[in-house]
Amino acid sequence: MNPETVLAKTHLFTPLDLEGARLKNRIVIAPMCMYSAEAGCMTDWHLAHYGQLALSGAGLLTIEATSVTPEGRITYADVGLYSDANEAAFARVLTLIRQFSDIPVAVQLAHAGRKASHDLPWRGDAQMPPESALGWRTEAPSAKALTASDAPPSALTRDDMVRVRDAFAAAARRAGRLGLDAIQVHGAHGYLLHQFLSPLSNTRDDDYGGSLENRMRFPLDVFDAVRENFPAGKPVSVRVSGTDWIDGGWTIEDTCVFAQELEKRGCAAIHVSSGGLAAAKIPVGPNYQVPLAAKVKAAVKIPVVAVGLITEFDQAEKILADGAADLIALARAMLYDPRWPWHAAAHFGEQVAAPSQYLRAQPHGVKIFAPSEI
Ligand SMILES: Cc1cc2nc3c(=O)[nH]c(=O)nc-3n(C[C@H](O)[C@H](O)[C@H](O)COP(=O)(O)O)c2cc1C
Repeated sequence: MNPETVLAKTHLFTPLDLEGARLKNRIVIAPMCMYSAEAGCMTDWHLAHYGQLALSGAGLLTIEATSVTPEGRITYADVGLYSDANEAAFARVLTLIRQFSDIPVAVQLAHAGRKASHDLPWRGDAQMPPESALGWRTEAPSAKALTASDAPPSALTRDDMVRVRDAFAAAARRAGRLGLDAIQVHGAHGYLLHQFLSPLSNTRDDDYGGSLENRMRFPLDVFDAVRENFPAGKPVSVRVSGTDWIDGGWTIEDTCVFAQELEKRGCAAIHVSSGGLAAAKIPVGPNYQVPLAAKVKAAVKIPVVAVGLITEFDQAEKILADGAADLIALARAMLYDPRWPWHAAAHFGEQVAAPSQYLRAQPHGVKIFAPSEI
C-alpha cells in the first residue's frame, strides 16, 4: 500500500511540500559538521555517515555547514563547495545516497567569518593563529575578535563583500549542478552572516552597519545571490539565531523583521536556532528555542523549523500540534539514534520508508515501506 494514500494520524508524519521538494514527514536532520574533509573535499567518512542518515526515514537530510571559500571554513577539515574537486567529492556522496534512498537532500552553505581557522573540536577547538601551519587570517564585518586570545579578523572591504557574495552564488550554482534538492543559507550561530546582523560584532559605519536595515543588507544580498543562482522551484531557506541571549545584541524582534524581509525575497522556510555570537547565558533545556520559532511563525507565512533539545516523539508531535512550528529538526538525537524516525513511526502507528533489504526488521504491527512503494 502506498502510504501517501493513507491519511497520517499525526502532525509529525504529515507530508509537506517545500516548494518543489516533497518531505514525507516533518522530521528534518539538522546540519552537523563532521570535521572530516580534506581540502574541503568529503571523504569516506561522509559516505558512511550520510549513507546511514539517508536510510533514517527522515523527511529532509541537511548536509553540514559547507563553506563557500577556503577562509570561511570553521576548521581545516570542514567541507567546502568552492572548487571542482570539492564538487566531485560531493557528487560521490550524493550518488551513494541516491542509490539507496529518495530522501530530499539540502546543503547548508556557510562562511564562518571571525569564527574560522579553528582546531578540530576533539583537539580542543582553539583558534589556530594565522601564522600556524593549519590556520589563516579570518575576515568579518569589523576587526573585532571573538575572544581576547583570538587573532583579530580583517574587516571586509566592499570589494571583499562582493567576493564573498559571489562565492555564495558560485556554490549555489554548484549545488544546482549537483542536483541538490534545497539550500539552507547559514545565518546563525555567530558565523559571518550573523556577525553582520548583530550590533555586537558589526560596528561598521557604512551602508552595512548601524541600523537594523543596514545590518541586514549583506545577509539579504547573499540570500538574493543564492536564490538567483539555484534552480527556480527548488527551496532556499535560511537558518537564523533567534537571539544572541546578550543584552544589546540581536533579538527575536530583529529576527522577525529579518524573516519577513527574507519571505518577501522568496525564502522557502526559516530555521530558528539561537546563540553562538559570543559567550552568553543560555537557558538550555528541552524546547528552549521553541518559543523563538513560535514568534517567527507568528510573523511569517512560510514554514518555520524548530530545533534544540527535541528528543522525544510526543514532545516533537506537541510542538507541531501546538502550532509553534511546521517542522522539527534533530541533530544529536539523530547521531544517537539514526532510526529515530522509524521509532517515532512505531510509537504513533505511522509509516516510514526503509530500504527493501531492511524490511524484515519490521517489528510486529509497525509498517515500514520500501522507497519504491512511496
Ligand atoms: C556534531 C554537531 C555538529 C554541528 N554542526 C552544525 C552545522 O554544521 N551547522 C549548524 O547550523 N549547526 C550545527 N550544529 C548544531 C545543530 O544543528 C543543532 O542546532 C544543535 O545541536 C541543537 O539541536 P539538538 O539539540 O537536536 O542537537 C551541530 C551540532 C552538532 C552536535
